[in-house]
Amino acid sequence: MKLSVFPNYRLLSENASDKVIRLVQNKPTAVLCFASGDTPRLCYQLMVEKAIAAKIDFSAISFVGLDEWVGISPSNEGSCHFFLDNLILKHLNFSSSNIHLFDGLSGNPMQECRKMDQLLQEKGGIDLMIVGVGMNGHIGFNEPGVSFNNYSHLVELDNITASVGQKYFKEATMLKQGLTIGLKHLVEATNVLMLANGFKKAPIIKKAMEDEISDQMPASIIRTHPNSEVMLDEEAASLLIK
Ligand code: F6R
Repeated sequence: MKLSVFPNYRLLSENASDKVIRLVQNKPTAVLCFASGDTPRLCYQLMVEKAIAAKIDFSAISFVGLDEWVGISPSNEGSCHFFLDNLILKHLNFSSSNIHLFDGLSGNPMQECRKMDQLLQEKGGIDLMIVGVGMNGHIGFNEPGVSFNNYSHLVELDNITASVGQKYFKEATMLKQGLTIGLKHLVEATNVLMLANGFKKAPIIKKAMEDEISDQMPASIIRTHPNSEVMLDEEAASLLIK
């Protein structure tokens, strides 16, 4: 694991977006798996701007959404589907058959997970994951206590996730379950970028980076990945031992 600290959120996002662009240029058939949420927002905006300016071809890129709220429609602005579509997918020339997002409205969530796992197996795994860190240390919806050996699965959301998650929705929304790519997919991914910014993430980043690697702190798994990079702004890194 590499740890990189940037002076501010903009430089962090610039740097992360450059990495995506480079990867797509080097491997036009790559499989990307991206989180939604506030942290990677600017990275995605910059990535789209750069991709459009440089006319980068995404037609053979496969795109996998990291997670989704169960029971939430893709047309709801708080859904991961809406977020990824609005920020990334609709701006670039992805082939619709290469876009794979969990269906939060599926009557058969287990089947959604099996479909995702089968797809990733067929594609040979994920080339680049971009993940954030939840206020409880989750990655995707891999909540504290999750097995590091899980592939895609249905999750009972932690109370912290259900309450922090309200920030994505216009109205108070019942959030009970999620569908998520599992940590085993992360361990098997070729490259992983974990982004965090702001003072509010500093205590959780300190725990994830300095306490023992444990399923009680899912983000700590990043330290076991040989080709991962934790990208922080100075605020998120402010509690780390120098
Ligand atoms: C969202 C996701 C979550 C977020 C995490 C941080 O798709 O996977 O794990 O990355 O909750 O959220 P933000 O970036 O909003 O602080």
